[in-house]
Amino acid sequence: MADNRPFLILAPLQGVTDVVFRQVYARHFTGIDQAMAPFISTMGGRRLKPSRLKDVDPALNTAFPIIPQILGNNPDDFIYLGDYLFDMGYAQVNWNLGCPHSKIAKKQRGSGLLSHPDKIDAFLSRVIPAMKPGLSVKIRLGRKNKEEIQDLIAMFNTHKLDEIILHARTGEQMYTGTADIDAFERAMKACTHPMVYNGDIVDTASWEKIRQRFPEISRFMIGRGILSNPFLPEQIKGLKTDSHPPDSQDNDSQKRERLKNFHTDLFNSYKQVFSGPGHLIGRMKGFWNYLGPSFENSKKPLKKLLKANSEQDYSDGVSEFWEMNLKFCPDRIE
Ligand SMILES: Cc1cc2nc3c(=O)[nH]c(=O)nc-3n(C[C@H](O)[C@H](O)[C@H](O)COP(=O)(O)O)c2cc1C
Repeated sequence: MADNRPFLILAPLQGVTDVVFRQVYARHFTGIDQAMAPFISTMGGRRLKPSRLKDVDPALNTAFPIIPQILGNNPDDFIYLGDYLFDMGYAQVNWNLGCPHSKIAKKQRGSGLLSHPDKIDAFLSRVIPAMKPGLSVKIRLGRKNKEEIQDLIAMFNTHKLDEIILHARTGEQMYTGTADIDAFERAMKACTHPMVYNGDIVDTASWEKIRQRFPEISRFMIGRGILSNPFLPEQIKGLKTDSHPPDSQDNDSQKRERLKNFHTDLFNSYKQVFSGPGHLIGRMKGFWNYLGPSFENSKKPLKKLLKANSEQDYSDGVSEFWEMNLKFCPDRIE
């Protein structure tokens, strides 16, 4: 019988979904099939940054199959880093053409290249024959407007790519507005490569909408939705991990307990890798920025927690947060 379960990919979120997060997440939740690692930037002069490569060290990444991602626009530097990653044992490397930040885009990296399909074309013509096969691209609809996608897809169709992951916003949109699923559909219809859907799958309702709209898509990438609701992949796949009826108080306390254990594990794991409390607390605040608003009436305790400057204040804030036994209801977020 054909396996038609969706294939779920954890999106790369620089500064959030690093190897520590990925490994800890997998100890507490199921449903994710693969993860794309946050981008590694190319460096000139055949140099590599060991601290960034550690994030994709296969010995540390035992939880999920990983796709490493590269950000850069220099073909020689890309080939050098790409070969290094293939030699580490990876079968696919991804090129980041979606990063929206103006500092990066101005240098014609990330989404900054999307208004120059000719430059992408020249880059791919040089890079693909020089590297082992196994390149995918992660793109947006364009840099400035979503019509750019048509020329981009026509150009990508002429190259040998494993797949195209499309986040249906423009670069200039950053994360505002909503992902344009009509534009995704137009791109998908024109594209000869397998496509991965990405953008705004935040709960089971948005998931159902995307699944029904695109029955031909089997691979889906999810980022922020998993951070605000770590149960989302389990819910999407209908994996039964709760022993209590949905919407019961017991179910809610079981969820809270699992989130609490996840948080404790994450905190302890980051404590081992970050040297000072500043980095540790900064990283954990990033985590709470996504998860915290998913609890009912969490504004006040969250504000206090996010103000913490010392490890003690942070631990006190977290204890108070859990002691309030707030209802976990991520689907209510607007
Ligand atoms: C804080 C942050 C960091 C991100 N870092 C990366 C990155 O390193 N590489 C990348 O391709 N996309 C990155 N993205 C984009 C996400 O992978 C994803 O495409 C985007 O969040 C849309 O998916 P979502 O609505 O499921 O979150 C980042 C997004 C955020 C919010």
